[in-house]
Amino acid sequence: MNILRKRKSLKKIFLRKKVVCLTAYTSPIASLVDEFADIILVGDSVGPVLYGLKSTREVNLDMIISHAKAVVNNTKNAFIVVDMPFGTYEKSRKDALKNAQKIISSTGAMAVKVEGGEKIFETIKFLANNNIKVMGHLGMLPQSLKGKPVVYGKSLKEKKQILRDVSLLEKAGVFSIVIECTLKSLVDDLIKRTDLPLIGIGASSKCKGQILVTEDILGMTKFNSKFLKQYYNFLKDARKAVKKYTSDVRTKKYPKKSQCY
Ligand code: KIV
Repeated sequence: MNILRKRKSLKKIFLRKKVVCLTAYTSPIASLVDEFADIILVGDSVGPVLYGLKSTREVNLDMIISHAKAVVNNTKNAFIVVDMPFGTYEKSRKDALKNAQKIISSTGAMAVKVEGGEKIFETIKFLANNNIKVMGHLGMLPQSLKGKPVVYGKSLKEKKQILRDVSLLEKAGVFSIVIECTLKSLVDDLIKRTDLPLIGIGASSKCKGQILVTEDILGMTKFNSKFLKQYYNFLKDARKAVKKYTSDVRTKKYPKKSQCY
């Protein structure tokens, strides 16, 4: 309870000029980014990033809950949002509420994120009316992907749909929306038409905030995308370190006498 009181509130977060969001799934990354990020997302990208799964659709409720516990327990500043895994909110509103409540009560996280617009409007409204803080996710939706990711918003149909989705999510009561891999001109238009804070990933610098996968910006993955900026080459430096350890063991440089009992 004490920990919760000290965390950044949504009100304060969205008063900032720019909102910093990053993902975390583990205790070391969570405590690293907690110093800087306003919002930490325990994303279902945990599947591909940590488990080497082909898709975020393979992530289940138990997996996301155990990662969310690690993140909540090892942070004290950021507002923690947890992705509702594929299959946990589409069946019925009641099932979605039961799963959202399980995520929140068993982890201590502050909110959940769900992917989609019009199709899940009633579900989001139901969650919000039952005191669940919900973040939306529009544009390219990883949980609905069939094949390679494609930029969203190129056709008139998609443009009309996302405009409709944003206004529906606003009505449903989300506190913010992640917009992923969507045409910049369309995102800029959305920003003008809504009061909701939009958080971009492959979207536009005009968004209220930006989100990226921490392991991607640190160079811990081989993920590559036009929108990604890598700030550190972890894999390169880590390889050098493991190579040096290997050579030290083989040449008996490690352990030294001083490293033995
Ligand atoms: O799962 C995730 O990490 C996400 C972000 C990339 C937005 O949904």
